[in-house]
Amino acid sequence: MLRQIAPVVLFFAPVVAAQESSAILSNPFNTPADRIEGARLFRSQCANCHAEDGRGTSAGPDLSSGAFKRASSDEGLFQIVAKGLPGTVMPGFSLSGREIWQVLAFIRSLSISRARETVTGDASRGAALFRTHGCGGCHDGLLGPALGESVRRKPLFELRRSITDPQVEVESRWWRLRAATHDGAALSGRRLNEDTHSVQYADPSGRLRTVSKADLTQYEIVRKSPMPPFDLTDGELDDLLAYLVSGAP
Ligand code: HEC
Ligand code: HEC
Repeated sequence: MLRQIAPVVLFFAPVVAAQESSAILSNPFNTPADRIEGARLFRSQCANCHAEDGRGTSAGPDLSSGAFKRASSDEGLFQIVAKGLPGTVMPGFSLSGREIWQVLAFIRSLSISRARETVTGDASRGAALFRTHGCGGCHDGLLGPALGESVRRKPLFELRRSITDPQVEVESRWWRLRAATHDGAALSGRRLNEDTHSVQYADPSGRLRTVSKADLTQYEIVRKSPMPPFDLTDGELDDLLAYLVSGAP
């Protein structure tokens, strides 16, 4: 008899505790890598309604302020994502437990970056670094993404990671091609379009080119960012971030 009761008690204990303190059942998947995975899941599953930066749309509320209407603990938020909010359009998601924790780690990071991670750097020093490192040479919308407004709304930890570790997540639209022609010329650049007969790309100077596949002896898609890792001090990185979130570049 006791054997049957014991597991029930063990099962309920943490749930009750979780209502009293969010520290009891806190997120077990909360490393930087979990937050990156959570950001990816959030973009594909939640951004339609809650916006990519979590600040909400007409279809779903802001999740980036750190204050929630329906729950306060991690456990409560977990239940909302798993089961949805009956009577509203917020659906339940059949994600694994780990995936839900990762999404929540990302959501929590949004408010942490809003509340605590204020920029400490100097935007004008950042502007000078942006020039001397040639960042603008790529960030023109063709060879690299235009920065400006879209970057201003991103969490700082994501921007910092984009600069210190550009290869972590490279969207396919930034993949490059590497090719050689029959007459020995080497080609490279950002791959723009491809069909059975030809490839269109932007060469490193930003010129649009089309090459016929029949002219190529070698053709390879490089799934990597052309962005080099930069050797920056923490202070320089902060200055660059201050410049980026100013919306000026
Ligand atoms: C179809 C639109 C839609 C999608 C997709 C969606 N949500 Fe929601 N979500 C809502 C709406 C609407 C509410 C507010 C419901 C209410 O309180 O009336 C909400 C509420 C929430 C809340 C509670 C907010 C609070 O203040 O208490 C959380 C947390 C949440 N959503 C997380 C997520 C996550 C994580 C995902 C993706 C895995 C997601 N939502 C996907 C529409 C959506
Ligand atoms: C050789 C070209 C190149 C140079 C030079 C370059 N970038 Fe990039 N950068 C890219 C490309 C392409 C991407 C998109 C692919 C990726 O994620 O790396 C990118 C991504 C980024 C992102 C993420 C943008 C987003 O929308 O999330 C930031 C921030 C960024 N770069 C900042 C910088 C800064 C600051 C410098 C100078 C210190 C710099 N880049 C130099 C090509 C470049």
